[in-house]
Amino acid sequence: MKSLTIEQTKADDKQYVLHSWSKQKNLNPKSISKAEGVFFWDENEKRYFDMCSQLVYLNVGHNHPKLLEEFKQIGEIPMAAPAFATASKSELARKIIEKAPDNMAKVFFTCGGAESNDHAIKIARMATGRYKIFSRYRSYHGATFGAGNLTGEGRRFMVEPGIPGFIKFDTPYLYKEVIDFSSEEEAVAFYLDRLKNQMLYEGPESIAAVFMEPIPGSNGVIIPPKGYLEGVRELCDQFGILMICDEVMTGFGRTGKMFAVDHFDFEPDMITFAKGVTSGYSPLGGVIVSEKVARYFDENTLMTGLTYSGHTVSTQIGCATLDLLEEEKIVENAARAGEILAQRLDALLSFDSVGQVRHIGLFAAVELVKDKATKEPIISYGMDYGKDPVGLMSKFVSLLSENGFYTYSHESSVIIAPPLIISEQELNEAMDIFEKVLRNFEQEYLFADKTLTVK
Ligand SMILES: Cc1ncc(COP(=O)(O)O)c(C=O)c1O
Repeated sequence: MKSLTIEQTKADDKQYVLHSWSKQKNLNPKSISKAEGVFFWDENEKRYFDMCSQLVYLNVGHNHPKLLEEFKQIGEIPMAAPAFATASKSELARKIIEKAPDNMAKVFFTCGGAESNDHAIKIARMATGRYKIFSRYRSYHGATFGAGNLTGEGRRFMVEPGIPGFIKFDTPYLYKEVIDFSSEEEAVAFYLDRLKNQMLYEGPESIAAVFMEPIPGSNGVIIPPKGYLEGVRELCDQFGILMICDEVMTGFGRTGKMFAVDHFDFEPDMITFAKGVTSGYSPLGGVIVSEKVARYFDENTLMTGLTYSGHTVSTQIGCATLDLLEEEKIVENAARAGEILAQRLDALLSFDSVGQVRHIGLFAAVELVKDKATKEPIISYGMDYGKDPVGLMSKFVSLLSENGFYTYSHESSVIIAPPLIISEQELNEAMDIFEKVLRNFEQEYLFADKTLTVK
């Protein structure tokens, strides 16, 4: 490909490219001129800590030399349609099953997260003979029609009227819960009771699957109360429903363990994955299915497929990525660095505008409030995506970026999810920036009555 100057890149982008989830008119996307490890540089040679790993996928960091080297080998690999057995596809499937929970047996490969969830819906319907699908409010599962219907927030609305039989239930979000539970156990009992009722009202014999991100990610890293996921598992078992965990964001080390489900005491029937499997260096996703689900398709046709299922380039990059995770002990680093991040985030609670911090491994969110006492959010629910006339959250994220801390927000939560290779020093340096920006932000907008507003 002919290399374009930065000016031409930006001009062609403006003229020819449609960007996701945005009004196009005033967009002025940065261009990356250089990138390495946890850093990238824009067209003006300004350096940024990539504190969201692009879209929470760049787990091994930018331009990892071993992955770049792997790309040089790719010319030797024959392209083959999904019907063929290829070394990289076989090896990657084996490696994934070795890392997945013990009950997992086989992998169906896709090209990304949404496609993985779409295929998990189809697999669940085929394997159970049922059609209803449960998923949660405050979840994101992707932008295709199926995954969009699973999604439990505003990015679903453009696929509505939705697919019949897609039912939503509440994510336990205790910080915002109006009921003042005396303990987590009481909250869990409440949420499980409600879910059980919903299953009964919907007719459990028609429910194929319950989809959940074990820790909803882009909706603000909402950590489940203790025992909740295990309780959902029990309900699914009681009614013969498949439990499907969407680990597109959390899979392959993000939370300090290989999969987020490894933090809990249950095994799902399927896990969907994407992003981290190749660290985003090549598009790849998939559905990991349990032994029981895999056996169903021994005698029944798997009525689905994709031209690029198990694509040789992506599966080769996947193998190299998983090797890297082991060789460089990257998941262990995520756990270690996660402890430092946790300390830094907990310290932020002394700020008036920080309502709650949530963290697990290198997966975290800082929830900003206008008023700590009432928990009034910095942006009202549903006012993301250019709808908020006040724009305090956009101001905060822009200030972070101006100071070299690149990330994004969703509703009132700022996501913090750096590459898993981040060092202690880099993490502290980045969090110093975050603290400084927060202090300046409060000075600029915080009034004496401790509520934030625009002057
Ligand atoms: C949990 C989760 N599921 C699914 C998706 C969709 O993945 P993709 O954009 O690769 O289709 C995302 C994307 O952020 C995600 O976070």
